[in-house]
Amino acid sequence: MGGFSRRAGALVVDAVPLAAIAEGAGTPAYVYSAAMIRERIARLRAALEGVPHQLHYSLKANACRGVLTVIRESGCGCDVVSGGELAKALAAGFAPSQIIFGGVGKQAHELREALRSGIRLINVESAAEVALLASIAAELGVVAPVGLRVNPEVDVTNAHRFIATGEKGHKFGIPIGEVEAVGRQVLASPQLRLLALDMHVGSQLHSFDAYRNGADRLVEVAQRLQGLGAPLAYLDVGGGLPATYEAEEAPDLAAFAAIVAGAARTLGVELLLEPGRFLVAEAGVLLTRVIYRKENGGRTTLVCDAGMTELIRPSHYGAYHRIDSVAQVAGTMVADVVGPVCETGDFLALGREVPAVEAGALLAVHTVGAYGSVMSSQYNARPRAAEVVVDGDRWAVVTARETYADLVRQDVVHPEWRQR
Ligand code: LLP
Repeated sequence: MGGFSRRAGALVVDAVPLAAIAEGAGTPAYVYSAAMIRERIARLRAALEGVPHQLHYSLKANACRGVLTVIRESGCGCDVVSGGELAKALAAGFAPSQIIFGGVGKQAHELREALRSGIRLINVESAAEVALLASIAAELGVVAPVGLRVNPEVDVTNAHRFIATGEKGHKFGIPIGEVEAVGRQVLASPQLRLLALDMHVGSQLHSFDAYRNGADRLVEVAQRLQGLGAPLAYLDVGGGLPATYEAEEAPDLAAFAAIVAGAARTLGVELLLEPGRFLVAEAGVLLTRVIYRKENGGRTTLVCDAGMTELIRPSHYGAYHRIDSVAQVAGTMVADVVGPVCETGDFLALGREVPAVEAGALLAVHTVGAYGSVMSSQYNARPRAAEVVVDGDRWAVVTARETYADLVRQDVVHPEWRQR
């Protein structure tokens, strides 16, 4: 089993010292353990053994090519939410038949791209999208594989309010009360094939109540649609399994599996899952170097070469990410760990007990494999960081660090002015 541990005091990932990676790839850098990702996939599969199922890794959690390769080679499909993610998935070698397309605001060109490529399933979120998809399918002369993303309108109070998605009034999905009508609309179109009901109720879900209540509601409406002749083949329960950021207990996968597998069995369909965070979050760290240590108004501040541009979760969600010193140091101190960006909101941790490091030290910010690099930005004209995959005793840069040239690559130096 891979992962992060100490050997002779030095933090290593699998068999590779993080200091060696910082030396070779520079900082800041995201570092991912292939072994941990494989182990997570295996664990989830084992819990679902005996249930016909397919894992569709949610690209939005981490779309780094090197990570996608590990996941694809483990036999997973994927779930995309934009034409851009579809392009990245295809470029990483996922077969179209392994790809699900979801998302609340799909545009005509994206639906066209998805249909042209021949993907497995398009989860639609409104009657208007059904109509648009039918017209594009007619234009292309194909039958579109349709899932209905249902908003089951269940209580998701245990998720951060920004990442709860299945409550009444949330922008996602078709309100449960309208699903049958939209289902009839799909069944009436020769261009559409109603293959699935889908939900995604939230992310970082430590309680499975929302899954249970949501799945119950989906089963009920699915049975009504089956009664109307819907050739349902899949039940897609979305993502949402949690990662351990601090001291949270690992999810009880057997309990989770019992809920979702039971629903699929009742309907006699294959179970689809769209896990993101659970597969990759804990497999990643952000390596950063302390540039300065200073005292500010009675607070100790570690100014690092990574901040909100590399990891926005602390300032955006108030998220906790564990911070370790790569070299073992004696003692701890309370400090603000911040980035170099010109914003007071630019921090990795505030008032945190951290190892008593000095300027020059290397830090590892944990649990950044999901929603780290994908949410990064070039704010303050900061080139995006490199990404590294470790596989056993080998490591490789899989995403090159951006350069200053990348920062001006899209600039139109001589604009072509047009007359109105
Ligand atoms: N499927 C759908 C339709 C989704 O919207 C999501 C995540 C997933 C699957 C994967 O969910 P997961 O297994 O990773 O929980 N940026 C936030 C998380 C946003 C999640 C959005 N949807 C964060 O940093 O916590």
